[in-house]
Amino acid sequence: MKKGIIVLLLGGFVFVVYQALMFYDNNFPYGRMRETPAVRPYEKPLLVMEPGTVPFNGGEALYRATDPQDLESPLKKIDAAVLDNGRQGYLTFCAQCHGPDYDGNGTVGQSFAPLPTDFKSPRIQKAAEGYLFKHMSYGGKRAPALATTITVKRRWEIVAFIKSLGTRK
Ligand code: HEC
Repeated sequence: MKKGIIVLLLGGFVFVVYQALMFYDNNFPYGRMRETPAVRPYEKPLLVMEPGTVPFNGGEALYRATDPQDLESPLKKIDAAVLDNGRQGYLTFCAQCHGPDYDGNGTVGQSFAPLPTDFKSPRIQKAAEGYLFKHMSYGGKRAPALATTITVKRRWEIVAFIKSLGTRK
């Protein structure tokens, strides 16, 4: 008699657990791998990459390889809008180190050796645009490489802005 009850209880328990598992399984929020559609290789047309995704005749690699003296700004006209973008860029990406007065006295920069450069020095004002562009893009002894942080266009705008500062009186 006792044995019969134990078997019955055990059977009931197994039944309830089975039903619970089935309930969980039937309410799965996502498809089972074997139930979702299988796509064989090339069965669906591949997405075509947008032109320019993989640069092969331009881009950073080309800038990197070009001598700074030969690198020219693509900006045709340096107008107020360009200089304004350049100033914005300078204040966002350079001023911490090169200073609000462009003299290298930015707070963050004072922990570097050598110290950040004075942009109104004759040497920088005479330097090639490509030199400023490449230095800002790929870094120097201590200067950070900002090529992956600032767009190409904005970098040239910053170069134009720095050049517009002129030498310190
Ligand atoms: C984290 C600090 C830091 C930031 C931000 C920074 N620089 Fe510099 N920069 C330096 C230091 C330090 C040097 C001097 C050492 C060296 O050349 O590596 C320097 C040097 C330079 C030079 C070299 C000039 C020379 O002496 O020949 C140029 C050009 C320059 N920075 C441009 C920029 C521009 C443009 C930005 C903003 C887009 C910028 N830097 C942002 C720290 C910084």
